[in-house]
Amino acid sequence: MIRVTIMDEDRIRDIDEANMLKDITSMPDHIREAAEISKKVRLEGPFKSIFSVGMGGSGIAGELLGDLVDRVPVFLCRDYELPKFINKDSLIILNSYSGNTEETLACAKAALKTKANVLVITSGGRLLEMAKKHTWAFVNIPSGLRPRASLGYQLFSILCVLSNSGVVNLSTDIGKAVEALEKGSFKDKAISLAEKMKGRIPLIYSSPQYSSVAVRWKAQLNENAKIHAFANIIPEMNHNEIMGFTKLLAEHYVVFIRDEQDNKRIIERVRITKKIITNCGVDSTELVLKGSSKLSKMITAVHVGDLVSYYLALEYGVDPSVNHLIDEIKRELTK
Ligand code: PA5
Repeated sequence: MIRVTIMDEDRIRDIDEANMLKDITSMPDHIREAAEISKKVRLEGPFKSIFSVGMGGSGIAGELLGDLVDRVPVFLCRDYELPKFINKDSLIILNSYSGNTEETLACAKAALKTKANVLVITSGGRLLEMAKKHTWAFVNIPSGLRPRASLGYQLFSILCVLSNSGVVNLSTDIGKAVEALEKGSFKDKAISLAEKMKGRIPLIYSSPQYSSVAVRWKAQLNENAKIHAFANIIPEMNHNEIMGFTKLLAEHYVVFIRDEQDNKRIIERVRITKKIITNCGVDSTELVLKGSSKLSKMITAVHVGDLVSYYLALEYGVDPSVNHLIDEIKRELTK
């Protein structure tokens, strides 16, 4: 395999034709714009439950939301059907970047049969048409990005609307998150991690409160770098997955994602897990999240993962924007 040095700008332009790097690094602008376009969208709560509907690069916004909102339970729906326990006190968030994802559209139709409140986040498609027709609250985010590169628009539109509606109190945290992204320097760390991961299967282990971040890393490694990657949480992986280090069938690289404020027993478990896997001959790195708010910690950790997946795509010489196999499934299903 030809090794791509990150200094080789022409080669990078050849691989990253659609300039995914620009979209990844524009996240602070996306967040600021999300706050602007959603500032007039308000919902009539209170809500006793939130159901986040969305797949892939859109579904992850709801997953991150679940790790952020502690006043109301957030349920994830990645299916053609909505859970039966939705009621008039529920909020359904229908999130599809394209607005044409069939699972999300099926849930949109199912939402019509409930008495729940609905919020739509989309750049267009049939979902936007449905939102207008049924007078659902919606945020129409800009089109032209890969769905997974629009996370700043999606997550922060949802957060802003929930903040406007009194469901969360995150307005100052949003500013701090943008600041953390702009002030931080993530590139060198991401490049060095991508270099270490090359030729190995990434295993991303987080503490429970950051499980969504680990899932985002996994999905970005899948879609941008086109490799298998796996995510799990500590303590759960200590009760099963840890055994897989006994009989390694391939080379792996482990990333631990945790917070200094995690439960002390989890911090201890990370330490012991790291020792065990090192003894099994597997290299790892620990990402200890720092920041003035959980949102800042999450979004900067997401950003590092996005960059790692991007630089790993360059290392493998694959276009981070192209999703030929996902597109093939979607095409076959429309036949
Ligand atoms: O990142 C991607 O391109 C995919 O994971 C899509 O997000 C996924 O297929 C769902 O499409 P959409 O986000 O348009 O609903």
